[in-house]
Amino acid sequence: MRVLGIETTCDETAAAVVALNPMGGAEILSNEIMSQIAEHAAYGGVVPELAARAHVEVIDRLVERAMAKAGVAFADLDGIAAAAGPGLIGGVIVGLTTGKALALATGKPFLAINHLEAHALTARLTDGIEFPYLLLLVSGGHTQLIAVEGVGRYRRLGTTIDDALGEAFDKVAKMMGFPYPGGPYVEKAALTGDPKRFALPRPMMGRPTADFSLSGLKTAVRLQVEKLKIERGGELKAHDVADLCASFQTAVIDTIIDRIKVALRLFYAECGMPNAVVVAGGVAANKAIARALTSFTAELGLPLIVPPGHLCTDNGAMIAWAGIEKLRLGQSDPMDFAPRARWPLDAAAEPVHHGKA
Ligand code: KG4
Ligand code: ZN
Repeated sequence: MRVLGIETTCDETAAAVVALNPMGGAEILSNEIMSQIAEHAAYGGVVPELAARAHVEVIDRLVERAMAKAGVAFADLDGIAAAAGPGLIGGVIVGLTTGKALALATGKPFLAINHLEAHALTARLTDGIEFPYLLLLVSGGHTQLIAVEGVGRYRRLGTTIDDALGEAFDKVAKMMGFPYPGGPYVEKAALTGDPKRFALPRPMMGRPTADFSLSGLKTAVRLQVEKLKIERGGELKAHDVADLCASFQTAVIDTIIDRIKVALRLFYAECGMPNAVVVAGGVAANKAIARALTSFTAELGLPLIVPPGHLCTDNGAMIAWAGIEKLRLGQSDPMDFAPRARWPLDAAAEPVHHGKA
């Protein structure tokens, strides 16, 4: 089974071909990506209109390249999958329309994929993990703890009540003068910093729900930055930046572990033992977080799965894989499937105040 996957929900245009062999193993035949980071850098964040235009400009070439690198013709495909949301609606329309057009022209089944579902299922592409598992989804737009019980069966155990974790990393990075997206710069600076120099808050610590809150932590960093700037008479010193990043990242790690503890309790009560803890989304590329989670889950005797960085951040392979997961269950989607700016994985979950999904 071979599926083409198209991803255009944010600032990466991506196309990939993934194959499922008869033994059940998955193989990424191609995974092409074009990042628009340079186009948005000057604005300190993603500009939706610029993103949509940039997707239109490159999507055809990218799909062609993904097909050529995979060495397959359209006739060899079993389905065409495209992310249909959630995300920036202009970009979503570009990828979704491309997917539909290709499916219509080739007569192949069409699969409208939830971008979050694709992140959630990536660990099955990379590690073949069985359901159920606990997913920590941490990206620029989402921070959620989800019980993944099966394809299409997601139970949200916790979410952020304000900022997403990647967003908090990006905002802290901006305060330090790093370019967007700043998560990787914060991680790098933290390597040489003193995580104990600043006593930053651990929001939600000890609360009985598995929700996150990150805006208080972000504000605490901002106050420290302002105080230091006054003391220094202007700019932060390199060691201030390193210490701030290390202190912030450590506060984030403590918070994540505390929230996962609560989520595991909820998981156990509702669905029994998980087979693993899985981390997905752009922030999963953070090695310090992964290291801390590895020792935490090892103590519990649970495997931790963190897919390789390029499959944690947005990519086409995860969309193709989600397409395979649906296709092999006999599912496909109609051509009038509408693009969705918002599309929560767990439709039954209560919306949270100021939440992102
Ligand atoms: O999943 P993703 O590629 O895009 C979406 O938001 O859907 O995630 C991007 C986010 C950005 O906020 C970026 O700063 C963050 O992931 N990120 C990191 C790291 N690499 C990417 N955050 C912390 N440490 C990293 N190494
Ligand atoms: Zn994403």
